[in-house]
Amino acid sequence: MKTEYRQICQVVCDIARDAGAYIREELPLLSASDIERKSLNSYVTHVDTTAEKRIVKALEEILPEAGFIVEEESIDKKGYDHKWIVDPLDGTTNFIHGVPCFSVSIALMHRDEMVIGVVYEVMQDECFYAWKGGGAYLNDNPIRVSETTSLKESLLATGFPYHDYSQLNEYMELFTWCLRNSHGVRRFGSAAVDLAYVACGRFDGFFEYGLNPWDVAAGSLIVKEAGGAVSDFSKKDNFVFGKEILAVNSAVYQELSKKIKSVFKK
Ligand code: IPD
Ligand code: CA
Ligand code: CA
Repeated sequence: MKTEYRQICQVVCDIARDAGAYIREELPLLSASDIERKSLNSYVTHVDTTAEKRIVKALEEILPEAGFIVEEESIDKKGYDHKWIVDPLDGTTNFIHGVPCFSVSIALMHRDEMVIGVVYEVMQDECFYAWKGGGAYLNDNPIRVSETTSLKESLLATGFPYHDYSQLNEYMELFTWCLRNSHGVRRFGSAAVDLAYVACGRFDGFFEYGLNPWDVAAGSLIVKEAGGAVSDFSKKDNFVFGKEILAVNSAVYQELSKKIKSVFKK
């Protein structure tokens, strides 16, 4: 199956690149009337939905029996053992403001385990990918998490809460502590890109709450396959469906996870 996942992964990279090319073409054509509000600070455009339909159609051809979990609800199919988890455009707020950081994120889950993850950062033309047991790659080159051994030397990434403010106080306490105890904290606006950057060592760690499975499914596998540690805020494994994630190089994981656990008191 490992060889099969490797082959499927290559096809998924092509699908992500194809969707990315479409998104890139549409960026300069976007106007205010194309933007629809889904809920508080959550927007969608025809580019998100069209990209998703293209991706879904192509994925259905690879594994016709697989189900789907997709952000824009273009398909409702439970499937059997395999499920695709798709965010056709991660970073829509950046996209609608013309900020060039957004990605296509596609994962394949087998039962409860992620087996393929692809994150394509559209404007950088960078495709990050991994399959279970096969390592992690960026545009054909193997990648590893950073070798930084202390938080003090780390560059961190996060996503600021923007619709779920239920844990804002805890978040701000953690954020302040990170500012004082690291090289700094970045907020790029695409969780999938944040995770991919942890996987290739650009960031040493990433944390965010309020996320959905399609934001993190692909990126979390890429981080793990690149040698990183991934968990929820209570150091457990519920990070794909549990709406909170911490992904760090393994050397810094203990330091950061201890603080996060104590602040969020889980
Ligand atoms: C969002 C991005 C962002 C994160 C949000 C996500 P979307 O996804 O990943 O970085 O902070 O929580 O919802 O809505 O642009 O696909
Ligand atoms: Ca997303
Ligand atoms: Ca999205």
